[in-house]
Amino acid sequence: MGRATKVVLAYSGGVDTTVCIPYLKNEWGVEEVITLAADLGQGEELGPIKEKALKYGASESLVADATEVFVKDYAFPAIQANALYENRYPLSTALARPLIAKLLVDAADKYGADAVAHGCTGKGNDQVRFDVSIAALNPDLKVLAPAREWGMSREQTIEYGERFGIPAPVKKSSPYSIDRNLLGRSIEAGPLEDPWTEPLEEIFVMTKAIADTPDEPEYVEITFTQGLPTAVNGKALDPVALVSELNTLAGRHGIGRIDMVENRLVGIKSREIYETPALLLLIHAHRDLESLTLTKDVTLYKRGIEETYSQLIYNGLWYHPLKDALDAFIIKTQEQVSGTVRVKLFKGNATIVGRQSEQSLYTPDLATYGADDQFDHKAAEGFIYVWGLPTRVWSQKLRG
Ligand code: ARG
Repeated sequence: MGRATKVVLAYSGGVDTTVCIPYLKNEWGVEEVITLAADLGQGEELGPIKEKALKYGASESLVADATEVFVKDYAFPAIQANALYENRYPLSTALARPLIAKLLVDAADKYGADAVAHGCTGKGNDQVRFDVSIAALNPDLKVLAPAREWGMSREQTIEYGERFGIPAPVKKSSPYSIDRNLLGRSIEAGPLEDPWTEPLEEIFVMTKAIADTPDEPEYVEITFTQGLPTAVNGKALDPVALVSELNTLAGRHGIGRIDMVENRLVGIKSREIYETPALLLLIHAHRDLESLTLTKDVTLYKRGIEETYSQLIYNGLWYHPLKDALDAFIIKTQEQVSGTVRVKLFKGNATIVGRQSEQSLYTPDLATYGADDQFDHKAAEGFIYVWGLPTRVWSQKLRG
């Protein structure tokens, strides 16, 4: 008796997930492996990947076109939440996991599989995100993670694959571990494991080196409708086109690189490099529009929500009821967040230089120092008396 009969395996086309196919069948007695590759706008042809899975033993090889759902249902809510893990990482990889989990669960349901599988190791965040998301969506489904158990080194994995005709990587494989989708690239391992070592320019694909960026600034206007980005430079764009366009614009000016040491959920500190041009730019612009359209209290309270929200995403709790409840709060706050933000892109910087909104709470008659000033200066005196009262009482008491 194997661990499962029919398994849907999350498939990337790489050596490790390819090796999972014969491994599941031969070592764990799985009868049928169906692979599922998700197109999340990583800009890679998935046709060959589909063929590859069949060649090495998959009974069915699925390719899910999920870029639009990814941007609309996963990235955009995170933008409304200004979600930045540890104040820096816009969660480009983390956001993809609950969606892939959903695709796996849906496929398992459709094909009558009794388990799903992924190729994550036991050290990362992604295994947690997959396992917990799958449990949320179908608690009866088994989750198999062969790479968490097989204890093979990279060389042994390649060797194991060769026994089943899976060729070793042709080029000396890159020392980096890279995850990519439309939102960005996450790069770790190899020389980056030393946090003192500057990343080589060769690792970047979506963003230009400052030395190669234009010598003239470029302005871009981003329009939001209820907190959702809807147009660039006055042109309405669908979510995928909008993110692609901003990736190009921001990337060209070297915007969106992050080099950080982050705290993984499993307790390990890891050094990560990210390039997420559009996502960072959108969060930056969105937050600015909120400064114009939300009251002070909502903004401050939302900041705490944003912190929790980012941690939920990072820690694999996308489908947790707390995340649902926070979504309701965030969506409510976004009702008035419509307008346009003007950003200057230049030499790695995205500087907000203007913002406007029909819902703007900015009141020139109150803000001005000119003759049109409508603010009642005398009222300030009584306000300050009441506001400062506890301080005055405390001070008097202290001085006896
Ligand atoms: N540390 C990031 C996260 O947990 C990215 C993980 C994947 N990175 C990679 N290079 N394979 O979301």
